[in-house]
Amino acid sequence: MLLLLFLFFLCPPLTLSLNQEGLYLQRVKLGFDDPNGVFSNWNDRNDTPCDWYGVTCDSATRSVNSIDLSNTNIGGPFPSLLCRLRSLTSVSLYNNSINSTLPADLYTCQNLEHLVLAQNLLTGTLPQTLAQLPNLKYLDLTGNNFSGDIPESFGSFRRLEALSLVGNLLDGTIPSFLGNISTLKQLNLSYNPFSPGRIPPELGNLTNLEILWLSDCDLVGPIPDSIGQLKRLTDLDLALNNLNGPIPSSLTELSSVIQIELYNNSLTGNLPVTGWSNMTALRLLDVSMNELNGTIPDELCSLQLGSLNLYQNQFEGNLPKSIAKSPYLYELRLFQNRLTGELPKNLGKNSPLNFVDLSSNQFFGEIPATLCDKGELEELLMIYNSFSGNIPASFSKCQSLTRVRLANNNFSGEVPAGFWGLPHVFLLDLTDNSFSGEIAKTIAGATNLSALSISKNNFTGNIPDEIGWLENLVDFSGSNNQFTGSLPASIVNLGQLGKLDLHNNELSGELPSGMHSLKKLNELNLADNGLSGNIPEEIGSLSGLNYLDLSGNRFSGNIPLELQNLKLNQLNLSNNHLSGDIPPLYAREIYKNGFLGNPGLCGDIAGLCDSRDESKNLGYVWLLRSIFILAGLVFIVGVVWFYWKYRSFKKAKRAIDKSKWTLMSFHKLGFSEYEILDCLNEDNVIGSGSSGKVYKAVLSNGEAVAVKKLWQCSKTAVDQESGDVEKGQIHDDGFEAEVDTLGKIRHKNIVRLWCSCSTKDCKLLVYEYMPNGSLGDLLHSNKSGLLDWPTRYKISVDAAEGLSYLHHDCVPPIVHRDVKSNNILLDGDFGARVADFGVAKVVDASGKGPKSMSVIAGSCGYIAPEYAYTLRVNEKSDIYSFGVVILELVTGRLPVDPEFGEKDLVKWVCTTLDQKGIDHVLDPKLDSCFKEEICKLLNIGLLCTSPLPINRPSMRRVVKMLQEIGVEKQPKIAQKDGKLSPYYYEDASDQGSVA
Ligand SMILES: *[C@@H]1O[C@H](CO)[C@@H](O)[C@H](O)[C@H]1NC(C)=O
Ligand SMILES: *[C@@H]1O[C@H](CO)[C@@H](O)[C@H](O)[C@H]1NC(C)=O
Repeated sequence: MLLLLFLFFLCPPLTLSLNQEGLYLQRVKLGFDDPNGVFSNWNDRNDTPCDWYGVTCDSATRSVNSIDLSNTNIGGPFPSLLCRLRSLTSVSLYNNSINSTLPADLYTCQNLEHLVLAQNLLTGTLPQTLAQLPNLKYLDLTGNNFSGDIPESFGSFRRLEALSLVGNLLDGTIPSFLGNISTLKQLNLSYNPFSPGRIPPELGNLTNLEILWLSDCDLVGPIPDSIGQLKRLTDLDLALNNLNGPIPSSLTELSSVIQIELYNNSLTGNLPVTGWSNMTALRLLDVSMNELNGTIPDELCSLQLGSLNLYQNQFEGNLPKSIAKSPYLYELRLFQNRLTGELPKNLGKNSPLNFVDLSSNQFFGEIPATLCDKGELEELLMIYNSFSGNIPASFSKCQSLTRVRLANNNFSGEVPAGFWGLPHVFLLDLTDNSFSGEIAKTIAGATNLSALSISKNNFTGNIPDEIGWLENLVDFSGSNNQFTGSLPASIVNLGQLGKLDLHNNELSGELPSGMHSLKKLNELNLADNGLSGNIPEEIGSLSGLNYLDLSGNRFSGNIPLELQNLKLNQLNLSNNHLSGDIPPLYAREIYKNGFLGNPGLCGDIAGLCDSRDESKNLGYVWLLRSIFILAGLVFIVGVVWFYWKYRSFKKAKRAIDKSKWTLMSFHKLGFSEYEILDCLNEDNVIGSGSSGKVYKAVLSNGEAVAVKKLWQCSKTAVDQESGDVEKGQIHDDGFEAEVDTLGKIRHKNIVRLWCSCSTKDCKLLVYEYMPNGSLGDLLHSNKSGLLDWPTRYKISVDAAEGLSYLHHDCVPPIVHRDVKSNNILLDGDFGARVADFGVAKVVDASGKGPKSMSVIAGSCGYIAPEYAYTLRVNEKSDIYSFGVVILELVTGRLPVDPEFGEKDLVKWVCTTLDQKGIDHVLDPKLDSCFKEEICKLLNIGLLCTSPLPINRPSMRRVVKMLQEIGVEKQPKIAQKDGKLSPYYYEDASDQGSVA
């Protein structure tokens, strides 16, 4: 017996000894889903939970005072059982899948000081009772789905120092009672879909406040004077609202402020002229995209700023010289203002300048030679000014440069040899200046160069052979110069080259052989030179070629039949010495102008051959023939007329009255509207989209076109389809203007709109016919096997290029608004083109875009999250939808699928990726040997579908990243701090330069 007792003491049964707190935590553990097994050491072999993962105890009392389970992937509701731990002061469950609503009895955690539940899936309203936590100092609920108002009780927090509700779905207004939390140091409410409201002046009572973030909160009205009372404020962010009125002069009393962000509002008036000297700590001021005018205060520029963004306002006058003294200045973006005068002579001498964008102003004088003295200058954008003089010789050493745009100025002189060969420059744009001299052979060193635009200058000499070494070159535009000699033979090495435009130079000699290796060539324009020899038949194998202009040269011989393999948008061979027959495919009236001025050229087009010598003899034959043909024509017309009458009599009851059609055409047409109307019967329906029904019409010349009949046409047409009829309603007033804009678009990845025809109550759009139908139909059918990885990859690049063109290269930019796989059509070679602009919107020239739309745009599963509550549409919503298309390509799944439950594809991918891993996400039909590239595409898709619009890359960047997959490089996915997106600036500054 004694021995037994002894043994009992020696080996105490471990399970009995776990203390009460440990037992509570074990129950907490049971409530969580734990895919990563982080709770694996939460077992009862210990006597206290103090060594368990994420648990910290007070060293003296051994009771739990902190739980940190951030980034552990756990899921389930918040366990209010935690509040039984009497000493608990800190809980962080940051970035997990905590779901459901916050329990109302959370207030029983009486000692809680620090509560972080950011980046979870919490829903419902914010519990009133939170304010009853008497010791709470730090509350971070960022990135959840809380909705409703901020509860009134929040005004009564007694010790709260930080309140962060960023990125929820709060939809009331910002309440004035927040001004009562006098202990508050940080107030972060950005990115909530609040209803329009003012900044409560009471916030000026928060005299301890250091950080105030209210960006994208739908704030209206003026900035209250009282904000100036926040003497400890270091960071003020009121960007992305609709604030108006002047910037209050009291703002200059913010003596501790380091950073002020007021961009993208509607503020008016001048910047305060004096008072800035109070703000000696100010390093970053961004008041871009407002309606501010007046001059830039000298006192502001004396502050030793690091970043000054004043772009897209109406500032005038000079850039104060004092700015050049700042030892911190790295960013200076002043584009699209009315600034004038010369730049400070020593700009850059003292400052580590990184980004300088002065485009679209009226600056003049020379570029300061000191601009790159610190060797950090990456972007130098000065297009559309009146700068003159040379490019300073010192720039030859500016190895940091990546993007240089000096177009549309009055620069002259030779470009320094070293400048041609800067190794990191990928864009060099010198268009429309008076530069002279030759392209230096040193250009061989510009290994990253992708766009070389030097048109409209006075460059002379040969184009150096070294051009052919630039393997990343995509665009070479050197038209309207005085280049001589022949095209370098090495040019055929440019495997990435998409555009070669050297028209209007003095080039001579023959085209180099081996042109078939210019696989990516899309546009070849060598018009108005002195080129001779034959047109190489190899050109016929450039399957992407879309634009071919060799007019105004001395080409001779036959037109190669191989050109018939091309799908050309533009073919111009006029004014050469070509002879022989026109290839049958091109022997049509619509191509005629492209063949004029070649006396020896013949074909079945009237008016081409009559200057021939034999014409005298042949004259009679021709006359006879003509009479014959004329008689035949009269007969045919008669028959057609009769038939026509007969048909229209038969179809008198048809809803569409053909006689009143008005036709708007954007291309030369080989057909008439009547021919099309005859094809609009139900047998020819090939699809129906959100805005209308689509027919295939085979015309008399054998060509097929796709005709879309918009829904509002006739009652009968609408009745046959249920569902999204409202979506297709296009307001009549906008229709013509919109169709007009879209009709002018010519891009290889945009479906061409041939013409539109309309009557008072019916509208037809005639597009080119795409034999492989829509990506959506193909991908989600049993034929999806046709889409192997290389095809899917190419489709993603094509579609991205089309969208990028709409966003960046159209003036004004166009937002598609209904990007989805069903609106990406595939041609005979599975080349992709973006289609269906039923709801597209031209963005207002101010760059602000339509604020809200009267109709819901977009399709289920593709709508960006912010759209659901702001109804604001911009390029970023298209980018989100495109991201969904990428996810479809990668997963082979539908954007919404009952299998996903509540989730859409984006959420499904994210959770499946987290919980089961990559192999459960990728489409099993894809060949796994491409896994690496597929993952890269998936990454881009995820980036495009970022919940915060600001984190989504621009379409131009997307194209670049996609192309990088192709060349087997790691796509660079830059991490943003969530506020200052360089993508944004990049795009904005480009707007002026396109056209
Ligand atoms: C919350 O998450 C848990 C675990 O992941 C899950 O089982 C439960 O269904 C979720 N509840 C809700 C309301 O989404
Ligand atoms: C808070 O600010 C408002 C307006 O700025 C003012 O009227 C009020 O008296 C202030 N309240 C306190 C307690 O200071």
